[in-house]
Amino acid sequence: MSDSKPDRDAAYALKTPEDSIELYRKWAKTYDQDFAKANDYRNPQLIAALFAKSSDGNVPILDVGAGTGLVGEALAMHGLAPTDALDISSEMLAVAKTKGCYRDTIQADLTKPVNIADSVYGGVISVGAFTHGHVGPEAIDELLRVARSGALFALGINAGVYEAGGFAEKFILLKDKIKNFEIDETFGYGKKAQAELQKTRSIVALFRKR
Ligand SMILES: C[S@@+](CC[C@H](N)C(=O)[O-])C[C@H]1O[C@@H](n2cnc3c(N)ncnc32)[C@H](O)[C@@H]1O
Repeated sequence: MSDSKPDRDAAYALKTPEDSIELYRKWAKTYDQDFAKANDYRNPQLIAALFAKSSDGNVPILDVGAGTGLVGEALAMHGLAPTDALDISSEMLAVAKTKGCYRDTIQADLTKPVNIADSVYGGVISVGAFTHGHVGPEAIDELLRVARSGALFALGINAGVYEAGGFAEKFILLKDKIKNFEIDETFGYGKKAQAELQKTRSIVALFRKR
C-alpha cells in the first residue's frame, strides 16, 4: 500500500485505519486540485444541499471524514454553521482548517470510540468516508451517541457497500434509535469526469436521532 499513488483506486483498496492515515497524508496537498477539481467531484455540494433542505436549526454540525473541508465549505454556502471537522488524517484536517469554515477540527479514528461528549451535535454529515476500504456501519453507533435527540443525519454511503457492507442491515437494527428515515441518491462526479467515475452512485441516508 505504501507505494500507491494517491487516487480513488488506492483509496478503495485501503484495508486498515493505518492505511488511511498513510494514503491521505500523501494526498492532502493535492486532493482538491488533482482529485476533486480534475474529476468534477461534487458530492460534498450535493449532500450538503440535501442536509440543508431538511435542516431546521440542526447545528452544531459534525462533518465526519471531513478531509480537506469541501463539505464544510458547501454547508457554509447554505449559511449553516458552526461545523466541526472530524478526520483520522491530521494532514487532511490541516488543509480543512485553511478553508476557514470550521469551528474546530478533531483528529479521531471512527472505527473506535471518539473523545466527544454525549449529545453535543444537532447535525451529522458525512461524504466519502462510508465507502470501500474506509469506515463501516459500526461507526454509526458513536455518531448517534454524540448527536442530541432530534439531530439531523445526512450520511453519504457508496452504493457498492450499502448492502454488501452491512449499512442497510444496520439501519434496520437501529429502527428504535432513529426516525424519519429516508434514502436519496447522488451521482458524485459531474460531466467533466471520466465515464467510469460518473457511474459512481451514493446512497444518502437521511434520518433523525429519536
Ligand atoms: C474520500 S475522503 C472524503 C473527504 C471529504 N469528505 C470529501 O468528500 O472530499 C475520505 C476521508 O475519510 C477519512 N477517513 C478514512 N478512514 C477514517 C477513519 N477510520 N476515521 C476517520 N476518518 C477516516 C480520510 O482520512 C479522508 O479524509
